[in-house]
Amino acid sequence: MRIVLIGPPGVGKGTQGALIAAHFDLPRIVMGDLLRDHVARGTDLGRAVDNHLGRGELVPDEIMLCIVRQALDAARAAGTGYVFDGVPRTLAQARGGYKIAQELGMSANVAVHLRADDTELIRRLLARAGLEHRSDDTEEVIRRRLLLYQQATQPIIAWYSRRGILISVDAMRPVGEVEREILAALELRRPSAGHSPAMVRRPVDLTRLGAQCGQA
Ligand code: AP5
Repeated sequence: MRIVLIGPPGVGKGTQGALIAAHFDLPRIVMGDLLRDHVARGTDLGRAVDNHLGRGELVPDEIMLCIVRQALDAARAAGTGYVFDGVPRTLAQARGGYKIAQELGMSANVAVHLRADDTELIRRLLARAGLEHRSDDTEEVIRRRLLLYQQATQPIIAWYSRRGILISVDAMRPVGEVEREILAALELRRPSAGHSPAMVRRPVDLTRLGAQCGQA
């Protein structure tokens, strides 16, 4: 299975992505975590994206596509699928990522779109802010992230719908209910989307993702 997760900040991409990856035994590429890790380690990439993250702005497409290529290469080398959490977020990322994935024979076969209203999203993120202290979980920055989602990310939903691989799920419900609906929908897609049984699967090396991607 090759899965992309799309949805606004706080909708549960991380929560559901972890459950999906565990259920189907897939590597999970969590773009936000990966970028925050580079910031914490002070790498070239971390220095290039630090300000974007703090302000709730999107990181430039070329940086994200560089990471996408590395992640797809790693998954391909390991003979596995993937769960992408947080990418693509713009039409340029969707189109550019699709081109790269096609070259590698690794294009997504399911896009899971999670939906919730802004009031609930802000409530969840402010609740998380009290526990995790993410620099972008302040009300002002959350509103900026939500606006950017509507402007830059929403258009990719129609793009995936036209490709015929979109599953849209109401994520206003409790975690377990959302999970059951997603897994049931993915199970239905599994036979046609399945991986090649002849392929040998090796551990996926994601440790170097992002290296060289932030260099000017
Ligand atoms: P990222 O880390 O991806 O942030 P985000 O999209 O804003 O998403 P969150 O992690 O805040 O929320 P989530 O949907 O994963 O929800 P979660 O499961 O945590 O990206 C951060 C930044 O990195 C971006 O702003 C940008 O700067 C940059 N970036 C990343 N990718 C990029 C890209 N492709 N292009 C450009 N820039 C990029 O849940 C949230 C909370 O709600 C948790 O506390 C959880 O426990 C709770 N919760 C989850 N589900 C439920 C439920 N069903 N009911 C009640 N509570 C729930």
